[in-house]
Amino acid sequence: MEEKYKLLTERIAELKREKKAIILAHNYQRSEVQDIADYVGDSVELSRKAAELEDAKIIVFAAVDFMAEIASILNPDKRILIPTRGARCPMAGMLQPELIIDYRKRYPGVPVVLYVNTLAEAKAECDLCCTSANAVEIVKALDSDTVIFGPDRNLAEYVAERTGKHIIPIPREGFCPVHILFSKEEVLRIKEADPKALVLAHPECIRAVREISDYIGSTSQMCRFAEKSDAEKMIIATEVGLIHRLRKENPDKTFIPAYEDAVCVNMKLNTLESIYMALKEERYVVRVPEKLASKAREAIEGMFEVIGRHP
Ligand code: 13P
Ligand code: SF4
Repeated sequence: MEEKYKLLTERIAELKREKKAIILAHNYQRSEVQDIADYVGDSVELSRKAAELEDAKIIVFAAVDFMAEIASILNPDKRILIPTRGARCPMAGMLQPELIIDYRKRYPGVPVVLYVNTLAEAKAECDLCCTSANAVEIVKALDSDTVIFGPDRNLAEYVAERTGKHIIPIPREGFCPVHILFSKEEVLRIKEADPKALVLAHPECIRAVREISDYIGSTSQMCRFAEKSDAEKMIIATEVGLIHRLRKENPDKTFIPAYEDAVCVNMKLNTLESIYMALKEERYVVRVPEKLASKAREAIEGMFEVIGRHP
């Protein structure tokens, strides 16, 4: 560990013990934040973990707004803290509940599946949630050939390709500002230097990138694939924070970012300093009002039920 982080790390550890706190960090967090977290994972793993943490009094969620909201929805009695109030996922802000209500009127009886990258108000209006790790499985499990799906247009398209179902994207052009930065040309350019390197892509990438990928999955699914694969080099088409975890877990393999500037600035707002202050001052509390939380909880627990049924 770098010397400059030593003192803060010690202080964070003391406060964690004193306050019975747990730190959950998403795979896109800064390296030093991943290194002090109790758990590092993708969005489904972190939501599951948050639901299991019975002894923790405080959960510090080093991620973005919708992920901390999920922790609050699943743990209404715990104190959920987000270290930086401004850490928001722009894609989650692209879908307003009014639009879902409008689509339900336009397509009566068609189920609505929402990616967890949505705010609680939107989740409360859907039938089931999904993550990038299980979107295909969730849509397949539905007893309907047409599904309204949002907010990521690329994930919706990927789900349509994999399930053969008619997917209605909501909104029409929801996207992740980080994942649309990857291009087929750039990936092929990198591959030219290393033709044996495998390409691993997140389903939020555009179709042209997905089409030239050897593996498509959530951030943690990519980690599991990288560990099992015999390939020595892999080109990674997702936010660059994942590279830290991949290198740490696979020191003998080489990971090349598909685009070095693919940085989610919102994820990077959380720092060791802000985590220390969050623990010290017990701020900033994320609490989804119970009326809203109870509806959103049904959609999230519905997802767990489906993926539990189809391991
Ligand atoms: P994962 O669930 O794959 O970690 O993705 C979350 C996310 O925000 C992708 O941009
Ligand atoms: Fe949202 Fe994209 Fe950042 Fe993920 S990488 S949190 S989808 S902006």
